Amino acid sequence: MLPRVFFVTGTDTDVGKTVAAAALLRAAARQGLSTLAVKPIAAGCEWVDGRLVNDDALALAKEITLPLDYADLNPVALEPAIAPHLAAARAKRPLGMAELASHCRRVVARGADWTLFEGAGGWLVPLNDSETLADLCQEIAAEVILVVGLRLGCLNHALLTVADIARRDLKLAGWVANAIDPEMAEREANLDTLARRIDAPCLGRVPYAPGPELIETAARSLDLGGLT
Ligand SMILES: Nc1ncnc2c1ncn2[C@@H]1O[C@H](COP(=O)(O)OP(=O)(O)O)[C@@H](O)[C@H]1O
Ligand SMILES: [Mg+2]
Repeated sequence: MLPRVFFVTGTDTDVGKTVAAAALLRAAARQGLSTLAVKPIAAGCEWVDGRLVNDDALALAKEITLPLDYADLNPVALEPAIAPHLAAARAKRPLGMAELASHCRRVVARGADWTLFEGAGGWLVPLNDSETLADLCQEIAAEVILVVGLRLGCLNHALLTVADIARRDLKLAGWVANAIDPEMAEREANLDTLARRIDAPCLGRVPYAPGPELIETAARSLDLGGLT
């Protein structure tokens, strides 16, 4: 079996990328796969024991099966919860795609069966004046997993993202439908529209399930068999 490298992106911020990424890692571990994960850039960090840490990175840290230092799991930790390139400018810590890509490659080189990267915000989040996180995904040639946060407006966001992934000749390995809005009207019809228009497998439908069991519920909702 060849190692796999996945980049988890989403239709927006707060759509369930971290939940889906943690659930994917848990499901992979249950299949006996070794895993590593990286949150290359986190904006919205807190000081703990003299270092900036981020909830997303900590959630991923709990699921990976191989050891990884926090600094490798989350190489860029920025304090304010604002657009990463703006947080980076405030911190006088310029972001460069090449530097991030070499970090990502070093983690991939550790040889886990799966190395999973969680993006920040949506697909085309800027790193600086000329580069985006999508460029990083392209540079490391990761397969993309798109988390669609099911709410009004998600069809446009999902289809724009899918179109740009294709334009870059990247592989969309699959998508996850995440029911983040319990009140969403016509959820099934929206899902049907997505399934007809996205030329990649739906890896699972995660129900609206707030609470401590969310990642477990999500993990049980996924079918990794779609990741061919
Ligand atoms: N299926 C779901 N049911 C209920 N709450 C959810 C669901 N998916 C995500 N959430 C909640 O929505 C918020 C955003 O999820 P998160 O995974 O952090 O999004 P992202 O990583 O895309 O920013 C979190 O508080 C999370 O617990
Ligand atoms: Mg997240």
